[in-house]
Order: sequence, then structure tokens, then C-alpha cells
Amino acid sequence: MSLTLSARAADFGALDTPLLVLAISSGTGVDDTLNALDKRLGGILRRTVDRREFRGGRDEMLHLSSAAAGVERVLLVGLGKAEDRPASLRRAAALSSRHASKLGVRRMSFFAGTINEAEAEAISVGLIAGAWDFKELKTPPSADEVREPLEEAVILGSSPGVERGVGTGRAIGAGHSLARRLGMLPGNICTPDYLADTAREIGQRYGMTVTVLGREEMERERMGSFLCVAQGTPQDPKLIVLEYRRGKPNEKPVGLVGKGLCFDSGGISIKPAQGMEWMKFDMCGAAGVLGAMETIGQMQLPVNVVGLIGSTTNMPSGTAVKPGDVVQASNGKYIEIINTDAEGRLVLADVLAYAARYKPAAVIDAATLTGACVIALGHTATGVMGSDDALVQEVLDAGKRAGEPGWPLPLWDDYKELIKSDVADIKNSGGRPAGTITAALFLKEFAGDYPWVHLDVAGTAYTESDLGTIPRGPTGVPVGTFVEFVRGRTR
Ligand code: BES
Ligand code: MN
Ligand code: ZN
Repeated sequence: MSLTLSARAADFGALDTPLLVLAISSGTGVDDTLNALDKRLGGILRRTVDRREFRGGRDEMLHLSSAAAGVERVLLVGLGKAEDRPASLRRAAALSSRHASKLGVRRMSFFAGTINEAEAEAISVGLIAGAWDFKELKTPPSADEVREPLEEAVILGSSPGVERGVGTGRAIGAGHSLARRLGMLPGNICTPDYLADTAREIGQRYGMTVTVLGREEMERERMGSFLCVAQGTPQDPKLIVLEYRRGKPNEKPVGLVGKGLCFDSGGISIKPAQGMEWMKFDMCGAAGVLGAMETIGQMQLPVNVVGLIGSTTNMPSGTAVKPGDVVQASNGKYIEIINTDAEGRLVLADVLAYAARYKPAAVIDAATLTGACVIALGHTATGVMGSDDALVQEVLDAGKRAGEPGWPLPLWDDYKELIKSDVADIKNSGGRPAGTITAALFLKEFAGDYPWVHLDVAGTAYTESDLGTIPRGPTGVPVGTFVEFVRGRTR
């Protein structure tokens, strides 16, 4: 059940809501607007603030029962100093809708004073993120135990800008939710076929052309790099292309590329058993592309975008690729396989080479590519590297606006020494030093002559701990970054 969002004028006199959320920054206290409401609430806000029970600090929440007619409960949620107001509001909105879902209220209203379009958008994105839930693989509780789901959120504020912001936020929320759902689905359900079907559905909804290449078609394209990863699994690998064309007919498209490993066991270089189940998330780059295409379609952005996904599973078997094997990618380069667990770069090599035929203005790929990136940046920042400094900056700016921060790492040629092979043009692993950088340098050898940026989302696409705003599992990254980037190109 997805959350229905709407905007309505903040008329406290006419309020009728089971839960009223008030987002308050530290140091503001009860201002004139809240004062009018407080009269109706019998002065409870003023008393609470005077007693310093609520100070408006970041992530602070205080639940109050109300005796006033039309407002059953009040939830105070802190914005902190709110230096970046959209970011603070996005966070507070997510905390509050998650809280509301746990309470079991069907409706909530969210008030944060006067808001502009960007703020309304951020609140909407946050509300949807906090209310998101994954229940499809659990038996529903019995009728007497079931809690009411949060179905509707009303954002208090009315202007054409707020309406537009809610519309955009709804579209971004839909993209995030789709990406999170795909991430959560296990490898036996979310297969390469499943991703292809999902792409076809998106294509149908928004008039995109969807092309799917299977093993045979990829053999014809001589994609020896992608195919060597897929040779250990009986499932048909898929190269999925979604073409969205609402820009000028001759305008070069933006390419969005995603790693779609529906499960990564490591292959012959098998991973340890401990925590291997997390490797169902190895398709979060692909989920990011599908989520972004969903949002872009809903927003009807006037741009040309091509989404490309390389999807398979990495399995050990008698037919699997072995360390020491040499394969040839579709751009002719020979690759020595050192470690079969460095499979994402092998898949993306052929997808990035394939992207060149669309003559893209820029290509951004997203991949849960290296454990080294989680060591370097944790679960907080996406690793950002590329062939074009201006494009890297453009992507960093987009990520910041989206609340999905990235951080740059150097792609210096000096590091190429680490992936030189004795027998082939390049090897697929340079070992532990600078693991995130050598993986990106490997990709660079296959990205055509278009400007290219790589996002290593190994740490940011999913979280191993509850973040307060969202539970353990997929985060929706990099949907926001992709969408903000594409949007930025329309301005
Ligand atoms: N999918 C993994 C990277 C990963 C690890 C993502 C942990 C999220 C959490 C990738 O395919 C992989 O196995 N990379 C290897 C590369 C190495 C063999 C050069 C890694 O990071 O260990
Ligand atoms: Mn791997
Ligand atoms: Zn992987």
C-alpha cells in the first residue's frame, strides 16, 4: 500500500486529523502561527516548550495526546538548526511518517510553517520513504492483530509551488520505493528475467522503447566479458535497454547504467558464508536505473535518457569462469580473470561499451562494485569517480541536492600499474590497495569516448543498521542522484 499525498491550506480551525505533525527548528519555539493552534490545543505547546521537554533538536520527537476536537494526537519533530532546510525537512518527514506507521493511524497531517516548492518536494520524498514497508513475503497478521496502515498524508501549505513540489516528490518517492522493493526481493524472485519484465512494464507506462538482449544476442555482440560471468548459471543473462525520448529529436541522450547482479556468490572465488545473503542487494545499481526511469517517466521530463542494465548471477559451477582464464570484451580488449568475485566490472565493461552506440552526452553508471568503498566511505557517502572533472562535479552537486551525498576519489593513471596483466591487456583485480579506484580504472577502459562518471554505491544503496528514517535494507540510492542529474540538465 503506497502513501497518498496531498497539499491543503493550513487552516488549523478546520483540522480533522488523527495525527498532526509539527516540524520545529531549534530555537524557534512557539511562534505566531503555532500560537493560534496552541490556543485550540489548550496551551500544551507553550507549556512543553517552556519546560524544555522539546527543544527542536535534530531527530527529536515528542508525542502528545490532545484533548482538542479535530486533533487526536500531536507529534513534535525537531529540525535542528536547519541550515539545509529541504534536507532537514526530508529527514523529519521520514521520521514522522515512520512513527505514524508504527502507531497505526490511517491519516496524518504535516505542518512546517510556510514552505516553498523545494521544501514541499523534500517533505513528500521523506514522508514516502518513512512510510515505505516490505510486507509481501510475510503472512498477514490475523484481523485482531493487524494495525491500521498509514494511507494518507496531508502537507499543510497551499500555493501552486507547494502543489508542484508534492507532485515531484510523489514521483521521486515512487522511484525510491520501486528501487527499494527490487532490492529487498530475494534472488530467487528478483531474477534477470524479473528485472527485464519490470523494465517492460515501466516502458509501457511511459512510452519508452525497451530492448532486451539474452545470452544468444550477447554472443552475437561478442560480449565475452559479460558472458563469462553468466557462464556459471543456467539463468539467461539480460542486457536491458530503456529508451525515453521526450527531449529534442537530435539532442544526445544521457545514459544511466546499472549493475544488476541478482546474486553474487563470488563464483569460483567464492565468498565466505557469513553474510552472503546480503549479496541479493548486488542489483541495487540496476534498481536505481529502473527507479530513476519510473520517476523520469512520471515527471515527463523533457529530456532524452537511455537506461542500460547488465543483469545476471555470479555462481560457482563446473562451467563457471576460473581464475587465470582470459576473455575478450566487445571492444576487443583481452581481460585476465584474477578473481571471479570481481564480476561487476566484467558485466559493466560490455554494457559501457554498448552504451557508445547511443552517442550519449554523458553516462553515469551505478554499481555495488567494491567492498573497499564501504571501508573507505562507510554507509554515508557514495564513491564518485570519472573521466571528466566537470561531470564529476555536476554529479556530486546532484547527489547533494538529492540528499544522497557522494565523495570524489582520484582516477590517476598511476593506479593503472595495479591492474596490468602479464598475459592480457588488463586484469580484473588489482588486489586490496585502492580497490575502489582500480575497479573504476578498469571500467574506464570500456567506457567509450563519452564523458563518464562512476558511482560506487556498495555502501550507500543499502544499510546494515536501522537509520531511524528507514529500517535495515535498501535505501533507494542512487535514484535521487540520477533524477537530480537529469533534471539539472533540463534547467
Ligand atoms: N558485489 C561485490 C562488492 C560488495 C561487497 C558490495 C560488499 C557490497 C558489500 C563485488 O562484486 C565484489 O565482490 N568485489 C570484490 C572485488 C575484489 C575481488 C577485487 C570485493 O570488493 O571484495
Ligand atoms: Mn563480487
Ligand atoms: Zn558483485
